[in-house]
Amino acid sequence: MAGPWTGVDEALIDDLLARMTLAEKVGQCVQPANLDPVADHDRIAAGAVGSALYASGPLGGAERDAGMDASPVEACQRIARTQSRLGIPLVFGRDVIHGHRTVCPIPLGLAATWDEDLVGAVCELAAAEAVEDGVGWTFAPMVDISEDPRWGRVAEGFGEAPALSGRLAAAAVEGFQRHVAATAKHFVGYGLASGGRDYDTVQVGENTLRNLHLRPFRAAVDAGVAAVMAAFNDVDGVPMHAHRRLIREVLKQEWGFDGVVVSDWAGVAQLVDHGVAADLRDAARQAMLAGVDVDMASDAYADHLAGLVEDGDVPLDLLDDAVRRVLRLKARLGLLDPAQPRTRGPVAVPAGGRDLARRAAVASTVLLSNDGTLPLPDELGSLHLTGPFVEDGEALLGTWVLDGRGEDVVTPATALRARLGDRLTVTDGRFSDLAAVRTRAADVTVALLGEHPARSGEARSVADIGLPAGQLEVLHQLAGLGKPVVAVVYTGRPLDLTAVLDRAAAVLVAWHPGVEAGPALADVLFGVREPGGRLPMTFPRSVGHIPSSHHSRPTSRVIDPADDRRTGRYLDALTNPVLPFGFGLTYTAFEHLGATLSSTVLRPGHPVTLEVTIRNRGPRPGSEVVQLYFRDPVADVTRPRVELLDWARVELDAGAETRVRFELDRDRFAYFGRDQARRVDDGVIELMVGPNAATISQQRQIEVRNA
Ligand code: BGC
Repeated sequence: MAGPWTGVDEALIDDLLARMTLAEKVGQCVQPANLDPVADHDRIAAGAVGSALYASGPLGGAERDAGMDASPVEACQRIARTQSRLGIPLVFGRDVIHGHRTVCPIPLGLAATWDEDLVGAVCELAAAEAVEDGVGWTFAPMVDISEDPRWGRVAEGFGEAPALSGRLAAAAVEGFQRHVAATAKHFVGYGLASGGRDYDTVQVGENTLRNLHLRPFRAAVDAGVAAVMAAFNDVDGVPMHAHRRLIREVLKQEWGFDGVVVSDWAGVAQLVDHGVAADLRDAARQAMLAGVDVDMASDAYADHLAGLVEDGDVPLDLLDDAVRRVLRLKARLGLLDPAQPRTRGPVAVPAGGRDLARRAAVASTVLLSNDGTLPLPDELGSLHLTGPFVEDGEALLGTWVLDGRGEDVVTPATALRARLGDRLTVTDGRFSDLAAVRTRAADVTVALLGEHPARSGEARSVADIGLPAGQLEVLHQLAGLGKPVVAVVYTGRPLDLTAVLDRAAAVLVAWHPGVEAGPALADVLFGVREPGGRLPMTFPRSVGHIPSSHHSRPTSRVIDPADDRRTGRYLDALTNPVLPFGFGLTYTAFEHLGATLSSTVLRPGHPVTLEVTIRNRGPRPGSEVVQLYFRDPVADVTRPRVELLDWARVELDAGAETRVRFELDRDRFAYFGRDQARRVDDGVIELMVGPNAATISQQRQIEVRNA
């Protein structure tokens, strides 16, 4: 593992632990918000605080040169280092999610790139910038599997597929942890919040958790993630902040996770709101017994943990274990090294951040339909740009942007004006006489539709996944004027785009793309670069179709369009999604052919390769995300109808072809059976290659044998 996440000197930690008082141990488990060097001076000096949330501020500069503290972060750190008895430094946490100052696409957009290297680079850039502001610990990546677009937090995660989420989680962890500690969150099942309402209850069995929701967390742990955050939700009646079975037994004991489990914001205290703890003391007791090491933003541990240990209600060795984990995180950041004089950093921020943001925004953009209007010709006469996002930089940053600034965004209007000069006309998105005149006068109109980030993210659930009120009507009116209208949809969630697909000449989903929103849009519209994205979540037809994912499991009755009585389909709507998982068009056309297996039998220690020919039979160079799915037709528990297994992106010139190889080992087909143990069965596995989960172009079978 690169960065500081290698070995830890456990002897150093033993030594510290042996010298700590009970109060100092509790202090390491306390993480207040907005720590202040004046108001909180005494408790920092007493060693009653271990880490802090949200405090940040620039390191270095003239103040440091003059021997002064440059920010509250530095001032707090100085108190901890020089005035607390053991001089143990604090670590400053902050939500650095999809960029710090250089904001890149939201995580759901990053997932649409299907590109681990790009995601890793974005997270590394974010971490390096954050270090400059004193941040040592980010509360990202969010790896909750999400199948419900009503839930606003789908914007923060990597979508519905455990394979995609898991690989991107690992890439994000490695990227962040080149400079700061990362946190896989929210453990676990949060994406199943009832009705898509944030924080709501979760009903899920252990087998579905293991075969689906726990998998990206396992990938993050295997990648060395420093911390895991407990989720706000309950799981079948047990709030996660009190879930001993999943936190202490599965995550810590079974998986061997040796990092920190941090609560979510006031999650320990909220055990009282859940109605499972009588008071704050009882909440602290249950959370510590369950394995929550750090109490973020509640007073439960600060006020009650020492008393609980003294009274024998919490064993001292559990507290020691929690403290050891916090000290380990600090050691891994180099904070326990007396030779390091600073809070942390600054480190060299990778060059080319804006170019990375632009590449990420292009790569995340998904082309949903195109009648040939795109790409626009270089010699295009005139373009009319309309919609609420034309000049609104801040709205294009997306949710969870604590440090990004609207003025850093190059807006669509600015970028297109730079390209087209006065051949660009702009209106604000309302249908008006002016908008009609400009639409008629232009060769093409580009309508920027979609949702403002204030409608996306935490506590931003919706009951209707249509476009915000009025936008569809404007699109209808513009499209009725007889000129091509290209719709660009900015969104943090899958929306019902059925009517948009019907009306627009071409449709792009651009998520919330970040600071390079405008240049990326110009690149895509004019074909300077191809929109590279593929959907990381299914786009269902309506709210009534939720939850909706490619990996639904077979039922007792197969959906049969010819038989009304015996199927699970809807009577009043088509059952299939508007747009399947993995979907995304290109400016060229690909064909998949000639899949071959190096062997039709897969034995332990003898991997098999599947090869398939990909041909670009279109007029332009382009890139295809070749997707490999599988099905396990006979298993110990019901298994997905299809599930993403692997993918590869290939770039091909017009007319060119190549062979794409996938390595398969037996372990890829492991799953958890009725006894919740991991197993691989003898038997046939069906392998399917295609451009998305609903379009399978090549199918093969392989026989798995355990000996
Ligand atoms: C969110 C977390 C976040 C934390 C700290 C909570 O409300 O659920 O995802 O990391 O706040 O900002």
